[in-house]
Amino acid sequence: MATYVQTVDLDRLASVDEREALICEVQRGLIARPRSLSPWMFYDAEGSRLFERITTLPEYYPTRTERTILAGNADAIVACAHNDRSLPLRFVELGAGTASKTCLLLEAALRISDDVAYVPVDVCSSALELACQNVACALPEVRMRPIIRNYVTDPLELESFDGTTLALYLGSSIGNFAPDEARQILSDLRAQLQAGDALLLGTDMVKDEPTLLAAYDDSEGVTAAFNLNVLHRLNRELGANFDAACFRHRVLWNRTEARIEMHLESMQEQDVSIEKANIDLHFMRHETIHTENSYKFTDRRIGSLLRETGFEMRGNWKDSQGWCAVTLSTCR
Ligand code: AVI
Repeated sequence: MATYVQTVDLDRLASVDEREALICEVQRGLIARPRSLSPWMFYDAEGSRLFERITTLPEYYPTRTERTILAGNADAIVACAHNDRSLPLRFVELGAGTASKTCLLLEAALRISDDVAYVPVDVCSSALELACQNVACALPEVRMRPIIRNYVTDPLELESFDGTTLALYLGSSIGNFAPDEARQILSDLRAQLQAGDALLLGTDMVKDEPTLLAAYDDSEGVTAAFNLNVLHRLNRELGANFDAACFRHRVLWNRTEARIEMHLESMQEQDVSIEKANIDLHFMRHETIHTENSYKFTDRRIGSLLRETGFEMRGNWKDSQGWCAVTLSTCR
């Protein structure tokens, strides 16, 4: 139970690695044309805090919709994943955030087993610590082993486990990756699992354009602040001199690729330097930095993604409008 104290010790170490990853990413993405940055850069402590606010906004339907699906089906999902109830059950959650929905599944697991472990994995140590505190408070019987890791740049290595592992990849986080990256993430995860283990994947489905656009351009401007926080983060951590007031949040629905795109648009011609990455940039008026893709899914795409990465679909649950899905698959 003392395990979340570990995250404090790991904090300093994680920030050194992350500084290097940030430098590599700005050198890759901001010099290239069109300019881009990876979405994992959103999630420093401030970005994680803003993301938590996004999840409560009326326009941002994915979190509450997925929670409704999990609340109504947690027992069926866990039963489908955990056939042999005599074995211990381990949940490994990629991109755990604050684990607000995970407790629904952990509670269902505790109804059928008294040996339940939880391994939350996240790039943001403050979010991870909150996740551990939330779970420790609500479900003290669950054993925890948090891992601070950027599972995108640094694939996960799981300790061997004598029982069933249920990997969780919820919140349509898989949607933030291009199809080849998504396949790589799921293949890397599959390589860490054994026959009989399972994956629960949360996806956001293709739907009407106004609903999608509103979810990423809310009326309170929280998503705009979340997007612009990347520039503040570069100022804070890499000694950059971005004037965030000279950039604006832009969102578009790319129908061909079935994805929402977020960009930061330079509102004037301007120079920016990023001291610790040793780069000087010149932005033209209207030039953009592409900061995020959020792919939306169809049943067919979910099926092929799972098949191509070594999983076999066992169950699929949706809300009444068919806006979001959670899909359980086992390792082939
Ligand atoms: C974490 N991820 C699934 C969110 C999404 O919907 O793509 C990130 C986000 N970006 C803007 N709003 C939410």
